[in-house]
Amino acid sequence: MEITYYPNPLLRKIAKPVAKITPQVLQTLDNMLALMYVANDKGGVGLAGPQVGLSERLLVIDPSHEDEERTPYFLINPEIVELSGEDCEYEEGCLSLPGIYAPVVRPEKCILKYLDREGKEQIIKADGFLARVIQHEMDHLNGKLFIDYLSPLRKKIIAKKLKMLEERYG
Ligand code: NI
Repeated sequence: MEITYYPNPLLRKIAKPVAKITPQVLQTLDNMLALMYVANDKGGVGLAGPQVGLSERLLVIDPSHEDEERTPYFLINPEIVELSGEDCEYEEGCLSLPGIYAPVVRPEKCILKYLDREGKEQIIKADGFLARVIQHEMDHLNGKLFIDYLSPLRKKIIAKKLKMLEERYG
């Protein structure tokens, strides 16, 4: 399993729902989490199926800080059911866009519905950093990247870095 980098077209595809939670799906989630922890020093706090070459609605997230106990979430077929709160600006990065960081405005809170590893429906009511990570990762399942939100000026600032990624990974 490897990270899919921008501008891989897979990152722009709408990922397919997982039809059945098989041992293979669980293994995939475990592998994704392991890969995310390896990439943790580069700021990896979430990873989506399309970021590892799989157009499937799978996410792993761990919003814990370095000095805290790990709190991994395994999310199958996740769905945002509500966005609320004030719009907040926060600097984002993405394992698929190495070296690029920019402030993105998103709602402060969200409610997420998903299936856990046993196939049971679960709900997360998130705010702050977790809500931010969830919204960023959900975008990956819908072919969206955080750079899509940037103002023309911000886009100009990162244009050179994007071009470098296009040359390297395109
Ligand atoms: Ni990302």
